[in-house]
Amino acid sequence: MLNRSSFVLLAAASTAFALTEFNWTSIEPSTSLNWTACYADGLDCARLLVPLDYASPNNSTTAALAITRFRSTSPSSSYRGPILLNPGGPGGSGVEFAVVYGSEIAGIVGAEYDIVGFDPRGVSFSTPTISWFLNDAERALWYPPNQNTVLPSLNETALGLPYAYARAQVQSQLAAARDADFLQYMTTDYTAQDMLTITEAFGFEKLKYWGVSYGTVLGQTFAALFPDKVERVVIDGVLPIDDWYSANLTETMLDTNQVLDAFFTSCFEAGPSVCAFHNNASSPSDIATALVDLLLSLQQKPVPAVASLTAGNAGYGVVDYSLVKNVIFQSLYQPYKEFPALAQALADLAAGNASTIYAASGPQEFTCEPGAAPVNKMFEAGASITCTDVRLNDTLADLQSYYAGMAAISEFADVWVPVRIACAGWKVHRPGQYTGPTGPTNTSAPLLVIGNLRDPVTSWPGANQTAEVLFPGAGFLTYNASGHTSFIAPSTCLDAYVGAYFRNGTLPPAGAVCQPDVQLFATNASARADGGGVSRRGVPGLTMGGMGTRKGLFSF
Ligand SMILES: *[C@@H]1O[C@H](CO)[C@@H](O)[C@H](O)[C@H]1NC(C)=O
Ligand SMILES: *[C@@H]1O[C@H](CO)[C@@H](O)[C@H](O)[C@H]1NC(C)=O
Ligand SMILES: *[C@@H]1O[C@H](CO)[C@@H](O)[C@H](O)[C@H]1NC(C)=O
Ligand SMILES: *[C@@H]1O[C@H](CO)[C@@H](O)[C@H](O)[C@H]1NC(C)=O
Ligand SMILES: *[C@@H]1O[C@H](CO)[C@@H](O)[C@H](O)[C@H]1NC(C)=O
Ligand SMILES: *[C@@H]1O[C@H](CO)[C@@H](O)[C@H](O)[C@H]1NC(C)=O
Ligand SMILES: *[C@@H]1O[C@H](CO)[C@@H](O)[C@H](O)[C@H]1NC(C)=O
Ligand SMILES: *[C@@H]1O[C@H](CO)[C@@H](O)[C@H](O)[C@H]1NC(C)=O
Ligand SMILES: *[C@@H]1O[C@H](CO)[C@@H](O)[C@H](O)[C@H]1NC(C)=O
Ligand SMILES: *[C@@H]1O[C@H](CO)[C@@H](O)[C@H](O)[C@H]1NC(C)=O
Ligand SMILES: *[C@@H]1O[C@H](CO)[C@@H](O)[C@H](O)[C@H]1NC(C)=O
Ligand SMILES: *[C@@H]1O[C@H](CO)[C@@H](O)[C@H](O)[C@H]1NC(C)=O
Repeated sequence: MLNRSSFVLLAAASTAFALTEFNWTSIEPSTSLNWTACYADGLDCARLLVPLDYASPNNSTTAALAITRFRSTSPSSSYRGPILLNPGGPGGSGVEFAVVYGSEIAGIVGAEYDIVGFDPRGVSFSTPTISWFLNDAERALWYPPNQNTVLPSLNETALGLPYAYARAQVQSQLAAARDADFLQYMTTDYTAQDMLTITEAFGFEKLKYWGVSYGTVLGQTFAALFPDKVERVVIDGVLPIDDWYSANLTETMLDTNQVLDAFFTSCFEAGPSVCAFHNNASSPSDIATALVDLLLSLQQKPVPAVASLTAGNAGYGVVDYSLVKNVIFQSLYQPYKEFPALAQALADLAAGNASTIYAASGPQEFTCEPGAAPVNKMFEAGASITCTDVRLNDTLADLQSYYAGMAAISEFADVWVPVRIACAGWKVHRPGQYTGPTGPTNTSAPLLVIGNLRDPVTSWPGANQTAEVLFPGAGFLTYNASGHTSFIAPSTCLDAYVGAYFRNGTLPPAGAVCQPDVQLFATNASARADGGGVSRRGVPGLTMGGMGTRKGLFSF
């Protein structure tokens, strides 16, 4: 079995700069921040001991949080403290987020801050780590390489939903039995308390924070629990906390179809020489029809794919409806980067070549060899945190009716409703845990809320409601972009507002709207968000939650 805490960062192979391996177990956890250089120039790592149970702070049972900072380069006289980050998921690694984005975020807010990523309790390099399986081989047998077993299309077969419901109950029992010592403490409210502990360990009293996707649930939870400890909180790609804690995810899918529509429209406008799935269409709806036809054909006839003969069991598989729905849905998270590749994969598939889209589904090679690449445990951590946070007790009939309601809203309900199904049979909860807001919260400083106009999993109305109702007085910034969170595409306008907020507390004027600096299907390298022309955001191949990645198991 791999040593869980000595993993190489999963993003290492795909980032533009050199990362060295870092062995987290070589650091002795302590109650103060004792930094060790790690990964790359400018980065330090530490492991901070926190109470496992904040209700019994004197109990010697602790968790050790993995923390990475992109170090401030200002003289100490102008140092302004830490800005904490969360990349979403839940289950995404904040360490990875800081390693990959630290220097870019410092460029937005200024060198006077430490840019700090931490792996939330239970996640990634923090210990204890949530894991439902005794070893990676057991996990790989439960989740075969193409990962469609994680979020299967409920429309693939008539038994899709009942089968997913049964599988989830098995997982719930594994989790409860195998992480019994600590699972009840792996909740968002305790991670919010950890953010205060981390901030205090830096010698500061109030939180500065930028959270995306599920990270907005964490930021809102902090603000609701510690309203007088808010200095700067940016929530970006917002899931309203009342929806989260009541497990009503209806609002998350309100804008999903619009992102798919943006694919059809931008593909049409880009033309056949740029968009491979254009096929001489005479309107966007021709392209939409071609996609429906392709999906219908897969429901009748899945196709064989051999994408690579050297990638072991990840190199070959069967391309079916479920896989293609998942690939399309993933691309909606980062359209500026993914749409051209999606169009090519769909065109190849329509022409009888399934290997491109198979490779795009991000199958993960598994081998029992020592030193093999670690298996991503993000889904386990994410589902565990979600299901412990919320109080669900769904029957199969409840889920069938929930699915029907979601399917009426979004064409991707079939691959999204499994997020809720994953809580079937979940029994772990902690007495006294936070269960959501009872009304609006006044904070010691206003939040800054960012909402994309076309976001596949966190809708603009949800962001608007959060700024308007849950945190009155918050600043609100609309990003006229397609995709999930502001990290999908660079925007000079957005960076200026976020920079002014962190530095001076300045809020955008009412009704402020920012445009991205890049375009969908851009041919000019400087207008692309694929890393070719722009230096930041949309780093390919990240495994973090919330960012809609190939290998990551997308969630919030
Ligand atoms: C990581 O560090 C620990 C403690 O120093 C050591 O026991 C272990 O062998 C190291 N692991 C690797 C892969 O170097
Ligand atoms: C800080 O870490 C170093 C090396 O990891 C160790 O030698 C030292 O004892 C630690 N200091 C404290 C105060 O924990
Ligand atoms: C924990 O221990 C400290 C120091 O011994 C004491 O002051 C405090 O009251 C204790 N807290 C609880 C909740 O028992
Ligand atoms: C400390 O916490 C652990 C884990 O929850 C529990 O098993 C143990 O009984 C607690 N010890 C005390 C003295 O409360
Ligand atoms: C869930 O949220 C939607 C949209 O905000 C709302 O219309 C619906 O009434 C909510 N359902 C429940 C059960 O709260
Ligand atoms: C699209 O139209 C051009 C020019 O009429 C033609 O050369 C090409 O073969 C057509 N492509 C497809 C896929 O029909
Ligand atoms: C399928 O498409 C991929 C990518 O365009 C290409 O590398 C591969 O050779 C094609 N396979 C076949 C059998 O045509
Ligand atoms: C969950 O539902 C079952 C069956 O409907 C019921 O017996 C049980 O009491 C419920 N549990 C909770 C915690 O509501
Ligand atoms: C699922 O399939 C049914 C018909 O089989 C269709 O009406 C519905 O739109 C599909 N739902 C999704 C979310 O694909
Ligand atoms: C929040 O502030 C407003 C305006 O100062 C006040 O009317 C309201 O009662 C406050 N709400 C809470 C929950 O403190
Ligand atoms: C939310 O949307 C409504 C309706 O479009 C608008 O009047 C309101 O100003 C928005 N709220 C914020 C905080 O922008
Ligand atoms: C913050 O305010 C100062 C003083 O008004 C100003 O010089 C500076 O440009 C502002 N910074 C930002 C990022 O808005």
